[in-house]
Amino acid sequence: MRTHRATTGSTALPVDIVELPEPLFDAAVRLWHDSGLTRPWNDPDEDLRRAVRSAGSTVLACVAEGQLLGTAMVGHDGHRAWVYYVAVRQDQRRRGLGRRLMSACADWAAGCGVPKVQLMVRTGNEPVLAFYERLGFQTEQVVVLGRRLL
Ligand SMILES: CC(C)(COP(=O)(O)OP(=O)(O)OC[C@H]1O[C@@H](n2cnc3c(N)ncnc32)[C@H](O)[C@@H]1OP(=O)(O)O)[C@@H](O)C(=O)NCCC(=O)NCCS
Repeated sequence: MRTHRATTGSTALPVDIVELPEPLFDAAVRLWHDSGLTRPWNDPDEDLRRAVRSAGSTVLACVAEGQLLGTAMVGHDGHRAWVYYVAVRQDQRRRGLGRRLMSACADWAAGCGVPKVQLMVRTGNEPVLAFYERLGFQTEQVVVLGRRLL
């Protein structure tokens, strides 16, 4: 399993970005609930376990002194990398952790040889677009279609 690790002095505590360790799985799902990222039709526990089981995806975690501060799920389909469940604990926002998580996702994707990283923002969560724009993401002229299989 690949590890994407970095440390920073940009927050009060030393922070590592690592692949989400199993003892923090429940904390990750709690963070996703608390951050408004879960929906009744998705099972976040299953989403997490599927992502960490697969060779083509992982969940990156921002961790300080064993505490989970943030997450980002990243995976690729052989063509593009997609990012999901980007969340930073409310009391840790605006300290650069979201930027570092997204940068770790980009490094992970580049390490897999895919040339582009992208993500979807739900209708209703438009205020977060300013965060992604600061990181160099651009709104693209596409409509995403989906059909549930399960
Ligand atoms: C989006 C989120 C992950 C950002 O995390 P964060 O750690 O606060 O972000 P950072 O501190 O790394 O911010 C990076 C840049 O974006 C800017 N930014 C962050 N949130 C912003 C916001 N809501 N509006 C405008 N700019 C924002 C910061 O000012 C910073 O700019 P700079 O580095 O150029 O000065 C966090 O707000 C969050 O968890 N939101 C709830 C979950 C969510 O909506 N996730 C996205 C799902 S698509």
